[in-house]
Amino acid sequence: MRKQIAAANWKMNCSLQDAEKLLTALSQKQFSLKENEQVVIAVPFPYLLMAKQLLNGKPSFFISAQNCHQKDSGAYTGEVSAAMLASCGITHVIIGHSERRQYFNETSDILAQKTDLALQHGLTPIFCCGEDLAVREHNEQNHFVESQIRDGLFHLNTEAFSRVLIAYEPIWAIGTGKTATAAQAQEMHAHIRKIVGDKYGNEVADHTTILYGGSVKGDNANELFSQPDVDGGLVGGASLKADEFEKIIHSLS
Ligand code: PGA
Repeated sequence: MRKQIAAANWKMNCSLQDAEKLLTALSQKQFSLKENEQVVIAVPFPYLLMAKQLLNGKPSFFISAQNCHQKDSGAYTGEVSAAMLASCGITHVIIGHSERRQYFNETSDILAQKTDLALQHGLTPIFCCGEDLAVREHNEQNHFVESQIRDGLFHLNTEAFSRVLIAYEPIWAIGTGKTATAAQAQEMHAHIRKIVGDKYGNEVADHTTILYGGSVKGDNANELFSQPDVDGGLVGGASLKADEFEKIIHSLS
């Protein structure tokens, strides 16, 4: 059975004090997650160790970074490597979020290198893809997302690819309150699963977790997550409120 995941992406939000409050609130909530259900929380770098400590002992909860550098170490002032994250006991890293692609000019080539290093250090990459509004309006989203996945991930061998999580996040739905309909999400997720199947075989495709991101909220998560090819969500704004994110986690089942 493939993993179903509620992933939080805090982005550049929260003071240390707010982060502590939010993590503590989450740690005090009761969840009865099934064996294949997980919660991943991607916090800013300075809060990673605190997050790990506060959620330590919470079964099926994992802490993620939101980015890593494409080199292993060296003179890259201000950057953080996958090796460093692994040495801190961090298990996941978001790679290629549309905000990184857009504001930090991260190309597919760079993202492929980041993915390689993350995997080399035993991290689980959450590889993001998704089209902007212009691409959708021209009905070119399938082809667009396919190239992002092919260029960022298809150099991997089957074993390596099997350790990657994919997040489909249409840019027009991120932070806009405009969610893709459940049908739009399902259509793209099925397409992604098909191209993964064509490359790696149906068994691998069947085991690939594909998250949906873009204005997931407590009151739409159920409908989105119940689509056959939607295996949970990558949640921005709504993950900053403990009660709202709790609702989203409950929507996994
Ligand atoms: P949003 O962000 O839930 O605030 O739309 C999702 C994301 O960018 O990961």
